[in-house]
Amino acid sequence: MSIQNQATTTTNGSLIISYSYSGNTHQIAQGIQAITGGDWCEIHPWQPYPTAFPELLEQVKREVQSGYRPQLLPGSRSPRPYKVIFVGSPNWCATIAPPLSAWLYKNDLSGKIILPFYSHCGGVSGDLRGDIVKLCPKADVCEALGVINDGGRELPEIINKWFIKTGIADI
Ligand SMILES: Cc1cc2nc3c(=O)[nH]c(=O)nc-3n(C[C@H](O)[C@H](O)[C@H](O)COP(=O)(O)O)c2cc1C
Repeated sequence: MSIQNQATTTTNGSLIISYSYSGNTHQIAQGIQAITGGDWCEIHPWQPYPTAFPELLEQVKREVQSGYRPQLLPGSRSPRPYKVIFVGSPNWCATIAPPLSAWLYKNDLSGKIILPFYSHCGGVSGDLRGDIVKLCPKADVCEALGVINDGGRELPEIINKWFIKTGIADI
């Protein structure tokens, strides 16, 4: 059985949640969905972020420093029926983006297996897994997958290697 098929059979029935500002994290989410067949759901803040980079950076720094969690648009799926939940975000200022913090905070993820993934540009890396553990202390949070931009053509291989490394392919 190929690595891809192994992952397909074992993570079927998972939930994939992603926030993305410029599309890369959603590309990774789609890559995970293509392999697992899981249910994918985007999240969006009620108030969109600024389009100009200086304003965006200023706002993100402020939100990250203060621990601000924005209100989200309605419509995200309930994690209740799922055992395995993938959660994705861009790396913003060495942590997860506030919309994902808001989703993690407002949902009870006790007893769930969480697989964090994030897109980044090769800058400051931070400890995104650790930040998620703080928000979901009763979940089993696996090693995070960091992908440069959208991972390009290597993405399926990057994801499958991560599945094997985390042991998720054996669940
Ligand atoms: C406000 C802001 C802060 C960022 N901070 C970091 C960082 O600390 N480390 C890093 O590697 N990349 C950082 N980036 C780059 C993004 O993580 C990268 O562009 C990512 O691919 C964006 O994902 P998205 O298309 O899903 O929004 C930052 C980007 C923005 C806009």
